[in-house]
Amino acid sequence: MDRKENLVLIAAALLWMMVSAETSPATHLPGCQDKCGDVSIPYPFGTSKGCYFNEYFHITCDTKITPPIPFLWSSNLKVLSISLDGHMRILTYVGADCYSKSGASESPTGSYAVLPAFPFSNTRNKFFGIGCDTIAFLSGVDIRGQTYSTGCLSLCSDIGSVTNGSCNGIGCCQIPIPENLLNYNASVGSVRNHTDIWESNPCGFAFLAEEESFNFTIANLTNIKNTTLLPSSIDWAIGNQTCEEAKKNVTGYACKAYSDCYNSSNGLGYLCSCSAGYIGNPYLPDGCQDVDECKDSNLNKCLKKCHNTNGNYTCSCPKGYHGDGRKDGQGCSADQLLLVMIVVGKHLIFRV
Ligand SMILES: *[C@@H]1O[C@H](CO)[C@@H](O)[C@H](O)[C@H]1NC(C)=O
Ligand SMILES: *[C@@H]1O[C@H](CO)[C@@H](O)[C@H](O)[C@H]1NC(C)=O
Ligand SMILES: *[C@@H]1O[C@H](CO)[C@@H](O)[C@H](O)[C@H]1NC(C)=O
Ligand SMILES: *[C@@H]1O[C@H](CO)[C@@H](O)[C@H](O)[C@H]1NC(C)=O
Ligand SMILES: *[C@@H]1O[C@H](CO)[C@@H](O)[C@H](O)[C@H]1NC(C)=O
Ligand SMILES: *[C@@H]1O[C@H](CO)[C@@H](O)[C@H](O)[C@H]1NC(C)=O
Ligand SMILES: *[C@@H]1O[C@H](CO)[C@@H](O)[C@H](O)[C@H]1NC(C)=O
Ligand SMILES: *[C@@H]1O[C@H](CO)[C@@H](O)[C@H](O)[C@H]1NC(C)=O
Ligand SMILES: *[C@@H]1O[C@H](CO)[C@@H](O)[C@H](O)[C@H]1NC(C)=O
Ligand SMILES: *[C@@H]1O[C@H](CO)[C@@H](O)[C@H](O)[C@H]1NC(C)=O
Repeated sequence: MDRKENLVLIAAALLWMMVSAETSPATHLPGCQDKCGDVSIPYPFGTSKGCYFNEYFHITCDTKITPPIPFLWSSNLKVLSISLDGHMRILTYVGADCYSKSGASESPTGSYAVLPAFPFSNTRNKFFGIGCDTIAFLSGVDIRGQTYSTGCLSLCSDIGSVTNGSCNGIGCCQIPIPENLLNYNASVGSVRNHTDIWESNPCGFAFLAEEESFNFTIANLTNIKNTTLLPSSIDWAIGNQTCEEAKKNVTGYACKAYSDCYNSSNGLGYLCSCSAGYIGNPYLPDGCQDVDECKDSNLNKCLKKCHNTNGNYTCSCPKGYHGDGRKDGQGCSADQLLLVMIVVGKHLIFRV
């Protein structure tokens, strides 16, 4: 390879680096791990000191397992995904209560989760009870330390009365959970002599899970036994102040340049989002980058010419035309002056 070829290669590599740096805005702080196994860890979350916003955003990445598994804080809660809109999916346990054929209970297992911060999503999760002789209890504590308890009942005389695909109280019951639920205990009990329905339903189950990740079928009366974990959704936010309170302390405020603040809709704290016309991670310095609306015709309403500006764009018309250049505005129309000249020109030609 001669020197010229080398230079061309270096130039191409530099260009590629510039292009790729431009097309993939940062998701994490420099020098920090952006992934744990297959799970993206965007800032304010991070896996080591200096990489997360505060200890509530600490993800423990267990690299002794292949692929590595992220855990929330130093808990045993596995993280499935983190999104910057304030949602996080974790795995929570299914509680079970199994019976012998004679109707005796065999070491029931409860299910619980204890979170130091970030409540369970009241819009995405439900509490479920599964079984033909099942009472599912839920007791919990909210972010203010208020306790609460509820439950649902699921009965069926035989499996034929269960509607496949419908969680309606016969074989499956579900109830909404309240806002701000931080910790819960789920447990399962029996209300009848389990012997009668033992053949088709040896166990009862209780769990909190994402509504979307659990669609009840008749087969679940027996096969949930093999599922110990199901996804649930938690709502994360920064701190426990409102936007207005947090803005007062500039050093502690998490929303960086070109971003807006909004209050969490479940629990305390606030979240950030890039302002209109910007995209990226609002929690990182320079995280929100200008969107080039001119690059994508779906993002601008320009008829002919588009000029990108910081946070927005402007339209214009080519030479000889006037108007605002917008599809939803005046568009572009030919200048009167030009028309006159053409008319004059034609006359001239005509007369010669
Ligand atoms: C359940 O009912 C069966 C007979 O119907 C009886 O033999 C058994 O002892 C009962 N079990 C319990 C726990 O009461
Ligand atoms: C859950 O149960 C355990 C032990 O039974 C108890 O220590 C804990 O306080 C309970 N938590 C809630 C939220 O009820
Ligand atoms: C219940 O529904 C599931 C999927 O919706 C289907 O695979 C299964 O065959 C159905 N079972 C019965 C007994 O209809
Ligand atoms: C449950 O059903 C919904 C709607 O039909 C679907 O979007 C979702 O993927 C299903 N979930 C699972 C785990 O099958
Ligand atoms: C549950 O797992 C056991 C082995 O652990 C297996 O024999 C059984 O077929 C599984 N049942 C279902 C419904 O997947
Ligand atoms: C419920 O049963 C369906 C099959 O009908 C199965 O695909 C699904 O994994 C079961 N759900 C759980 C939580 O075990
Ligand atoms: C909420 O505020 C208290 C008192 O300032 C603090 O100790 C706690 O860590 C805060 N919680 C979160 C989630 O930031
Ligand atoms: C402002 O935030 C910084 C960083 O979180 C913190 O160290 C400091 O104590 C806060 N100041 C006030 C007045 O709350
Ligand atoms: C945040 O909540 C406070 C108190 O409820 C309210 O006064 C404020 O307008 C809210 N801020 C935003 C940005 O929604
Ligand atoms: C961009 O500019 C247009 C026209 O001036 C205005 O209507 C629109 O609100 C602006 N958009 C943003 C994101 O600032």
